[in-house]
Amino acid sequence: MADGDILARPESSGGLQRGATLPFEWYRDPAVFERERELIFKRSWQYAALLEQLGEPGDTVPTSVADIPIVLARGKDGELRAFVNICRHRGHLVVPDAGNRSSLRCPYHGWIYGLDGCLKAVTRGRLEENLDTSQWGLLPLQVDTWGPFVFVNFDLDARSLREWLRPVMDSARRARVPLDGLSLWKETEFEFRANWKVAVENTLECYHCPTIHSETIGKWLKVTHDAFRTSCDDYGIISEQDLQPPGRRPSGSPPYDPETNETCVPLPFLWPNFQFTSFPGPRNLMVFTFRPVSSDRTIGCFQYLFGDEADEDFRQRICDFSDQFGSEDLSAVESVQRGIDSGILPYGHLLPVSDITTQYFDDLVHAALTGKDRNR
Ligand code: FES
Ligand SMILES: [Fe+2]
Repeated sequence: MADGDILARPESSGGLQRGATLPFEWYRDPAVFERERELIFKRSWQYAALLEQLGEPGDTVPTSVADIPIVLARGKDGELRAFVNICRHRGHLVVPDAGNRSSLRCPYHGWIYGLDGCLKAVTRGRLEENLDTSQWGLLPLQVDTWGPFVFVNFDLDARSLREWLRPVMDSARRARVPLDGLSLWKETEFEFRANWKVAVENTLECYHCPTIHSETIGKWLKVTHDAFRTSCDDYGIISEQDLQPPGRRPSGSPPYDPETNETCVPLPFLWPNFQFTSFPGPRNLMVFTFRPVSSDRTIGCFQYLFGDEADEDFRQRICDFSDQFGSEDLSAVESVQRGIDSGILPYGHLLPVSDITTQYFDDLVHAALTGKDRNR
């Protein structure tokens, strides 16, 4: 940073100015991203994998949290564990891809870790005096599950996942979101050029729906202000959106059961980067995660889960719908990042009514980065 710690400047003290976004520098400065890693991503419960990917002893799934490599492993004892996926020898990544294995062997010099993370064998270890392998196991993370989801937390003293999830769990229960008997049908990962916060802010509001989604979301769901209701509670931002009433739907097949009696769809969001939704019809769940890679690059991971009763046509309709509005969102998000990267504007202007969820999210970011995290 050329001009000192931007988090120490006046806008960072005493809370965010009402009606202002976060400073635009916070969406492009690598030093802010480093701070987010420490104060947001290493302290929050992070969605990491589906439970079905870790069903058998020996199943291992590598992924990342804010570009920190991690690996999940089901031990021979049936326990689910998570570790930093970085070898304690010289830092090579230990597990390169998902699979079933009896141990975790670093590809570089061959150190072998157990599925419990303990260092079991060091190549040519007998040549070394006083080698204490018990000191050099993989670093552990907390791990817990909810429904089909596995979450991890770097902070071994963090509040429990159940406490963290409370508003989201309540919302899912009220909306009867199916969480049992689902299996992954399709997964899409794509890297794009935008800060993770730009992507998350976009998913939290439907103010942009009448403009950029008129041919997708606007066809099948109502996009007026009253039709997108939100509530902000602790680490959950809970939204629900009305379906177009039957008389207002155009011809064609909606991405939900056309005979449904349901009137809206739930959109629970869990701070800082996890959201899901489910449409009326056969059991279905769409899961959206935005994993930061750097200050201006993010990986979007979209997963589509269904119950056995969902036929191919229904599954495809949901995925096609998501692909279409997803590409509309992607263009908008990358355009916002270009505007921010120009360095011309210091911050943006938020509307108290239409941008209420963005304001709440920005408040959470601000509180976390300035040490005013309400829950710690
Ligand atoms: S870096 Fe893993 S064995 Fe050397
Ligand atoms: Fe959108």
